Formats: sequence, C-alpha cells, structure tokens
Amino acid sequence: MSSRSSKAGPSQASSAPDAPAGGAKKPWGGRFSEATDPTVERFSASIHFDRVLARHDIRGSKAQARMLGEAGLIAREESAELVAGLERIAGEIEAGTFPFDPALEDIHMNIEARLRTHLGAVAGKLHTGRSRNDQVATDLALFLREVGLATERGLLELRGVLLERAREHVDTVLPGYTHLQRAQPVRLAHHWLAHVEVLGRDASRFRDGRARIRRCPLGAGAMAGSTLPLLRERTAAELGFEAPTRNSMDTVASRDGALEYLSNAAITMVHLSRLAEELVLWSSAEFGFVELADAYSTGSSLMPQKKNPDVPEIVRGKSGRAIGNLVTLLTVLKGLPLTYNRDLQEDKEPLFDSVETLRDSLEVMAGALATLSVRVDRMAAAAADPMLLATDLAEFLVRQGVPFRDAHEVVGRIVGHCTRSGVGLRSLDKGTMQSFHPAFDAGADELLDLERSLESRSLAGGTARGRVEATLAEIEAELATERAALERAEAAERGGRA
Ligand code: ARG
Repeated sequence: MSSRSSKAGPSQASSAPDAPAGGAKKPWGGRFSEATDPTVERFSASIHFDRVLARHDIRGSKAQARMLGEAGLIAREESAELVAGLERIAGEIEAGTFPFDPALEDIHMNIEARLRTHLGAVAGKLHTGRSRNDQVATDLALFLREVGLATERGLLELRGVLLERAREHVDTVLPGYTHLQRAQPVRLAHHWLAHVEVLGRDASRFRDGRARIRRCPLGAGAMAGSTLPLLRERTAAELGFEAPTRNSMDTVASRDGALEYLSNAAITMVHLSRLAEELVLWSSAEFGFVELADAYSTGSSLMPQKKNPDVPEIVRGKSGRAIGNLVTLLTVLKGLPLTYNRDLQEDKEPLFDSVETLRDSLEVMAGALATLSVRVDRMAAAAADPMLLATDLAEFLVRQGVPFRDAHEVVGRIVGHCTRSGVGLRSLDKGTMQSFHPAFDAGADELLDLERSLESRSLAGGTARGRVEATLAEIEAELATERAALERAEAAERGGRA
C-alpha cells in the first residue's frame, strides 16, 4: 500500500486494494467485528474523486484544530501540533507524495490517518465534536466559493474577448437571422454584444450563488450539533464565512449550493453551445462568414482539404454533460429524507465534472473567438440582399399613414412579384412601386438603403452605430467594475487560505 503513487486515479480505486483477506479493518471500527467486504470497500470508496477536496479539507481541519485549542477542548500545544501536521500533509499533497489509500474510503479519513502516522495518538483529537457530515459540507462550501470565483473569472475573460471583437466590427454588417432565414441587417458588433448580454447574466447567477454560501457548516456535527462547547463563530470567521449555519439538520442534508452551481453551469454551457453552433455554421462554405485559426481547428484523417471546427463542436457536445450533471444531482436529492444520507456522496463527480467542463469550455471559446478571422466581404454580400430591407419598405408606408397590416400585405405582394418573376427588388421603378401602393414616392432602389436602414434602428437596444458604440462603452465600464470586485473577492479568498 505504501508504494502507491498519489498520481493513481480511478483505476487504482477500482482494483482491489491489497487488504488482508476479507477486506480492510475499518478505520473507526470499534463497533464491528468483521472487516468490510472488499467489494463494498471498492464500491463505497470516494477517494479517487473526493481527493479534489484535499486542500479544502485541510483548511477546514486547521480551523477546527485551532478552535479546539481555544475552546480548551484540547491543549494549546496539541492544537499547534495538529495544525503543523496538517500543514505537512498539505505539502505532501502539493508535492504529489501523499499516499492516497482507497481502503480509507474518502479524503477525510485519508488525511486523518496520515495525521496519525505523522503525530501518533494526538491525531485522534482532531475529530472532536465533528462528523464527516459537517466536514464534507464545509469542504464543499469552501470548494464552491473558490470555483464560483474561477468561473466568474472565466466568464469575464470571454466577455472581454467578445467586447474587443465587437469593437473591431462596428462597421461590419451581416444578416441577422430568425428561423435561420435572413431577417434584417445588423452590425456584427451588435450580434456579438448579444452574447455578451447573455454571458453577463450567467456571471451574475454565479455571483448570486456565491453570495448564498454565507454560513459555515462546521459544528453541525452528524446532524444535531454537539454537547461540547465548540466555538462555531470562531471557525466560521476563520474560514471566511459570515456566521455559523442556523440549523444543524439543514446543514448536513442540503446540497443546494452544488445544485445551484450545476444549474448555473448547465445554463452557461447551453449558452456557450449556441455561440459555438454559430461558429460551426459560420465556418461552413455555405456561410463562409468566419474562419477559425489553425490553432483552434483540426484536419480530417481522410480528406486533405478539410478544416473542421472541432473546438466549438466539442463545446456544443459538452453542454450535454453539463445538463446531465444537473439532472444527476437533482435526481440524487429528490427522494432523500433529512438529514445526511450516503447518497449525497454522489454529489461530487457531477459537480467536479461540470466545474472542469465549464472552465475548459470558457477558455477554448475565448481563444477561438480571439483568433477568429472574420470574412467581412462575405458578410457584406449576404447583407446586401435587398429583401432584408422589406420591413423598411413597410415601415416607410406606415410613416405615410398606411396601417401596418396593410403595409405588410402590400410589401408581401411586392416580394411575391419579385420572387415569381425573378426580378430584383431594387429594379422596381417608381411607377411599379406605385402600382402596388400610391404612397410610394420613389423607386425601390432609392427607398432601400442599407446604411440608412441600420442607422434608423436607433431605439434603445437597436443596431444603429451610436447605440452600439454607447453600449460598447457601457459594457466596458461594467466589465471594469466587475473585474475590480472579482479581484477583491479573489484576494480575500487567497488571504483566507493561510
Ligand atoms: N464521503 C462522504 C460524502 O462525500 C463523507 C461523509 C460520510 N459520512 C458518513 N456518515 N458516512 O458524503
């Protein structure tokens, strides 16, 4: 068991540990006379995934050790010894020399057993007034706070890239689509700023989620607190929480912090998937609007001419697992009575998976967008389709006093005429236009003007240059404010990690 490398992953946990015949002796097995069956040991072990929580577990344990000393539940020297032992273990984990042992089930038992190896009997005092139930809830709260910040950071970076790309393309015009049919012309900046709005709301959801992780689980015990005079305010403050949790049962039973992260991650991944889908479509020959950089695309193993948009495709594909992870935890939770049930151990793999999936997806999307070449000419050619201005013709009639429904009907007939007879809309002269409606005072060519069309969409939320530029400036200021707040939160999180 000692030869086990800390790099060993799931495969290690799934191969039977070299335990004594009949399985390992239980680490806290006073009550038991038989060892755990090796199959059960393998089945119930979580160390191959909950080792992700090692740092958070040690941070929580150090706070616990200090508090026990202050509360007089253990001697000051013992408290100091425990803290030093935990720091030594943190060093081992960082260095990759920590001997993770599946026979010890989970990260909590692994660290405690290691502490015993280093310190001897005094290690047994660390768990005073604590259960793995409040311990794992504390680890998760610390973890969620940290990954929440990292996700907000990733969203900020991606929005920064989109903002920069939008700024470059205020004058680039392309068709906007509904039903994937060309609808009306818009500025590319306006299109990309739409995604910035979406991702900004996503970021605010993660911020909200983090703000709800305010109370510290430590001290809730197995589920009914403790008879010992624990200093819950003390551990809460040391771990950067506002206060201890208010209900011990809720504390060990709830996983809504994880649920909320998973939900926010699923929503964000769905949004990234939609953005990714546009990159896939736009890089097809049929659109030809963009070309992904070589660094963000791949070739075909068979067809030498292919340049495939694998990166956005994988992002789109990975949104499926983010949705699945949310559904997994919702399903795990839905039938559970209060309080802790071992089912809750199933919270971790989906959570860790969504954290990684989202982190990587945000990163590659930022890279792909930052290095994307935009085929301004192809977009302009598509946007030059005069049919995109049909709405403007109807609105011209409205300004002449024609009821909108009638105007819509008239322009619809004009479009039908052009389509059936194969003539271009712009070729209709004043007389022809007036044969459709006397209120037309010019030929179509004069009535239809792309730049005028864009510029007249100057209402709030519109694609007129002034509006887009004002929004660019507004978002730039918002991102700067968010960046400053995030940096403060990150510094507080780092400071508390001592
Ligand atoms: N590995 C467990 C989990 O993740 C830790 C808590 C175990 N508590 C218990 N009473 N068995 O939920």
